[in-house]
Amino acid sequence: MAKIHVLPVSLRNKIAAGEVVERPASVIKELMENSIDAGSTRIAVDTAHAGKRLIKVADNGAGMEKEDALLAFERYATSKIRDENDLFCIRTMGFRGEALSSIAAVSKMKLATAPAGEVAGPGESRQPAINDQRSAIGACIEIYGGEIKEIKDCSAAGTTIEVKDLFYNTPARRKFLKSDTTENYHIIDTVTREALSHYHIGFVLRMDGSDVLRLPAASSHRERLLQIYGKEFLDGLLESESRDARMNIKAFFSKTTNLRNNKNSQFLFVNNRPVKDQSVSYAVNKAYEGMVPGDKHPLFFLFLEIDPVKVDFNVHPTKREIRFEDKSTVFHCVHRTARSVLVPHDEARDVPPVPGTPVSAHGTGQAGTGAYQPFSGGLPQDPLQTVSETVAAFYEESTPFIYLGDTLVAIPGRDGITIMDYHAAHERINYERFLKGLEIPSCPLLFPQQVKMQGSEYRVVLDNHEMLNGFGMELEDFGHGTIIVRSLPEILRDADLQSLMSDAASALLRRDLTGEDPTGSGNPLEPLNSPKKALAARLACHSSIRGKEVPDGTRIAGLMKALDAADDPGHCPHGRPTRIVISMNELKKMFRK
Ligand SMILES: Nc1ncnc2c1ncn2[C@@H]1O[C@H](COP(=O)(O)OP(=O)(O)O)[C@@H](O)[C@H]1O
Ligand SMILES: [Mg+2]
Repeated sequence: MAKIHVLPVSLRNKIAAGEVVERPASVIKELMENSIDAGSTRIAVDTAHAGKRLIKVADNGAGMEKEDALLAFERYATSKIRDENDLFCIRTMGFRGEALSSIAAVSKMKLATAPAGEVAGPGESRQPAINDQRSAIGACIEIYGGEIKEIKDCSAAGTTIEVKDLFYNTPARRKFLKSDTTENYHIIDTVTREALSHYHIGFVLRMDGSDVLRLPAASSHRERLLQIYGKEFLDGLLESESRDARMNIKAFFSKTTNLRNNKNSQFLFVNNRPVKDQSVSYAVNKAYEGMVPGDKHPLFFLFLEIDPVKVDFNVHPTKREIRFEDKSTVFHCVHRTARSVLVPHDEARDVPPVPGTPVSAHGTGQAGTGAYQPFSGGLPQDPLQTVSETVAAFYEESTPFIYLGDTLVAIPGRDGITIMDYHAAHERINYERFLKGLEIPSCPLLFPQQVKMQGSEYRVVLDNHEMLNGFGMELEDFGHGTIIVRSLPEILRDADLQSLMSDAASALLRRDLTGEDPTGSGNPLEPLNSPKKALAARLACHSSIRGKEVPDGTRIAGLMKALDAADDPGHCPHGRPTRIVISMNELKKMFRK
């Protein structure tokens, strides 16, 4: 008996939906991109229960006539391309004609749409449609699980789509959805990305009735960045623009003093489409080479405009990835743009080169290669310098040591030699202090500081406000993406607040969003398997001695003592060694004695 059969249309659509509709945020992305293609100047997104119960996207774009509205739900139905030539010259966000059919297959959907009179195509300037403009030929269509339930006439210009009970008929997929909090972060990120590249459109995002983003139409990328991130954030970026026959680039690169422990704030847009591309990111990171430490990452917002004939957007169902015809030209253009803006502003060049030679015993103050300056603020005053005498004191109060380079020192002991990574050691000590809630005196700031945060980071800080408080960070919500920092743990007193808060948020967020190693180190040696641990590790990193600061003998002694008292003295929070001891016996063996 024959074993092969052709799947029914409803199942085909559910399978197709699996590619396009992963979670509520993907529905929002597709609907917003349709609104953008329809030439909208205002897009409002509403969600209830993280989009699991309701997603509503309303626009004032071109709208559809009844006949088109009915066709729009068919698979491969699109107004954006006609033939193969068009496929290789994509100027719209959508083109595959599968979003509406896919979403309709796995939800209860309602579409209300009507044409808005004279409307220009995407990218062209047009008069905003007026919502109450009358037109008799629109339609209101209800479609459940891909089955049309009701068709009525509609006359309100523009398009409103409601998606209820996502995955109600595919419970297996529904099970894969994360908590409301996590899905909300994805939604905020999605709307933020679209808003970043379409600054001329006004966006509103409301979640369960409250405003999360309200961005009036802006006149430039700069203005949009300002609306989302605030002035202080923008001050940490360098703006750059280049235009030539190959491509136009508008970019914002962080100053070499404004870095993060993760790559969350690296955004790439190609022809207004948020995408990921390893080689472009590499080109930017390469431009910072020699100016930033290896474990630090710049922030960037890169908007490339390139002839659509030279890019293949049809690589991934959600169009997240693309293929450049000439990858190396893109690499060089991006690298050159980044380099040209970074080098004149490179403060590190003004730092006189410090000889990289090891400091003799009792090293003091500054040393290292001098290639970069990780933090603008000085080294926090460290209570370790006055470490409690009750800790078993094996090492002398001031230990002779040899600075080996990087963050490594060699300390001779009674029975051999210890090689210590003082940054890793300090991280371990501070990490345990944070986790145990010990010895972290919280000191009120003389002037409470305002920190402007972007959507999902702001939210995750508010959501974890009590945990942060437990770590000695007294915070208050000031509304509109602004957090007031009232007090900080003593050891973080001089940290750069903007980068500290953003790193703390991303430690919490990253775990939620991706389940990845929240340290951003990409080092899965020790899974920091709770948000509390992830946060403690990030704060510990911010409060620990950096590469360019060679501690003195007293401080080295304090570190050794405190490390001895730690639960896991041998490893930093990410699992890397803090010290390696070579015993006298081993040394003797090496010398064949
Ligand atoms: N908000 C909207 N305003 C106007 N037309 C829309 C809107 N959303 C969808 N459409 C129409 O429905 C068609 C199908 O949409 P979709 O399934 O997302 O495919 P695609 O965007 O790839 O063409 C679009 O090509 C467009 O003509
Ligand atoms: Mg589409």
